[in-house]
Amino acid sequence: MLVEKISEMKSVTKRLRFEGRSIGFVPTMGFLHEGHVSLIRRSKQDNDITVVSIFVNPLQFGENEDFDRYPRDLNRDLEILREEKVDYLFYPSHKEMYPDGFSTTVEVKGITEKLCGAFRPGHFKGVTTVVLKLFNIIKPDRAYFGLKDFQQYKVIERMVRDLNLDVEIVGCPIVREKDGLAMSSRNRYLTDNERKGAVLLSQALFEAKKMFDLGINDVSKLKEEMKKIIQSNPEVREIQYIEIVDSETFEEKVKAEKGDLIALAVFVGDTRLIDNIQL
Ligand code: PAF
Repeated sequence: MLVEKISEMKSVTKRLRFEGRSIGFVPTMGFLHEGHVSLIRRSKQDNDITVVSIFVNPLQFGENEDFDRYPRDLNRDLEILREEKVDYLFYPSHKEMYPDGFSTTVEVKGITEKLCGAFRPGHFKGVTTVVLKLFNIIKPDRAYFGLKDFQQYKVIERMVRDLNLDVEIVGCPIVREKDGLAMSSRNRYLTDNERKGAVLLSQALFEAKKMFDLGINDVSKLKEEMKKIIQSNPEVREIQYIEIVDSETFEEKVKAEKGDLIALAVFVGDTRLIDNIQL
């Protein structure tokens, strides 16, 4: 069932809670793929009711980013949601979410300044603001996030802890294409050649993990090898970052340890792709 109004979504979930049903929530920006489907399936396993939201949130896009061209296809998404037997789709308009005079934001400090946050100022503030709004509207028992956006997952976990929100945050494994490319709605932007080159991102991560498993823990060596692999394709326009960090604080490491995160952001053509692996 499609719900467009905040007031209606609130009264639906209020009734469900009154009936004692548990609510799982999967926030998305639409253009659904297998990664989203894995979150939906997990939510359906864990909860009586699953709510998915589709909202391309302008607050989390920078001025020169891809808000206007972000892929949107409601009919295709509806088909997937029907197939997966999702109970409710919350599909608010921009005006509904950000009416005239909207002027409140919520910001997690510290970990939002590292990795993607260093290159996308304001991005995580946009994410936490919209996610907090969605949590307040839906009041889910559990919410599901893909670990491809590992930093986003940790930022939301921190917001929930710091603001004492009554929702359990569940991180779900990255879903990859057969050749290893992490699934993302933005893969849609890639030309055939770029798509071929994009496979090197996950190959570099897998290679670094293999080296680490063989006993090489020198971060500069691991990063150098990854750089070499990624730069071997002419479609790679710019490596924004390749970092090996503590997976809680996102502080850079000199010697990698088990549990650390290798994260990268790379422009393949004009498309910014991110991926990561935990050691
Ligand atoms: O990961 C996403 O798709 C978005 O950042 C989210 C969590 C739906 C907030 O807009």
